[in-house]
Amino acid sequence: MAVLFSNDEFAKLKEHLVLYRCALINMTTRMEILLEDFSNLQDSNPIEHVKYRLKSPESIASKLHRQSLDLTADSAKKHLADIAGVRVICPYTKDISYIAKVLKSQSDLKVLSEKDYITNPKPSGYRSYHLIFEVPIYLSNTEERLPVEVQIRTQAMDFWATLEHKARYKYQDDMPGHLAHELNECAIKISELDDRMSLIQDIVNIAYD
Ligand code: GTP
Ligand code: MG
Repeated sequence: MAVLFSNDEFAKLKEHLVLYRCALINMTTRMEILLEDFSNLQDSNPIEHVKYRLKSPESIASKLHRQSLDLTADSAKKHLADIAGVRVICPYTKDISYIAKVLKSQSDLKVLSEKDYITNPKPSGYRSYHLIFEVPIYLSNTEERLPVEVQIRTQAMDFWATLEHKARYKYQDDMPGHLAHELNECAIKISELDDRMSLIQDIVNIAYD
């Protein structure tokens, strides 16, 4: 059964979401600027592409419900750091730490949390680098700071995470063991593939120097 906000809380959440949308625009603009800069400076771009999304009121409600939290706009603001989310897709594994470093060096961004699921993959096999930044936004009469989640991963990791997410959703978190095992094996193979592709790229780069 769908979980819903009361009318009052829904109206309040809509107001909050305007601010999150501003924070998302701020972060995606930073990524676009980096894309421009890299395309000027380097012959290979460490960013393949960028995706972004604002969590819908429905999925905010169901996440609050899943975590047994109050179904209010303030509770969403207090407890959910992934209402605004950006996903940066990189060609090679080494690009991930580079992009993380570049973003962390931006002096007006504050790191609220950092999780390296590449060095320490999740039990599912999930690999990605997660950062939550506090992003400043300047409105007509006030300044706000809002969290934006940035997930950085290779194309291969993204390929895997998309399918695993779909499977997880379909089976409502009760995935058959053999499928979970097969996905885990694929995650390991994908990680090996990323390493081998990186090595080939290094060799090609040396050959061209
Ligand atoms: P959430 O409550 O889902 O936000 O998890 P969390 O607060 O513990 O943060 P975490 O960094 O573990 O995960 C945040 C996000 O990473 C999720 O919303 C997914 O987008 C992604 N993610 C984490 N684990 C997995 C996984 O096993 N499979 C897939 N496909 N995505 C994952
Ligand atoms: Mg989260």
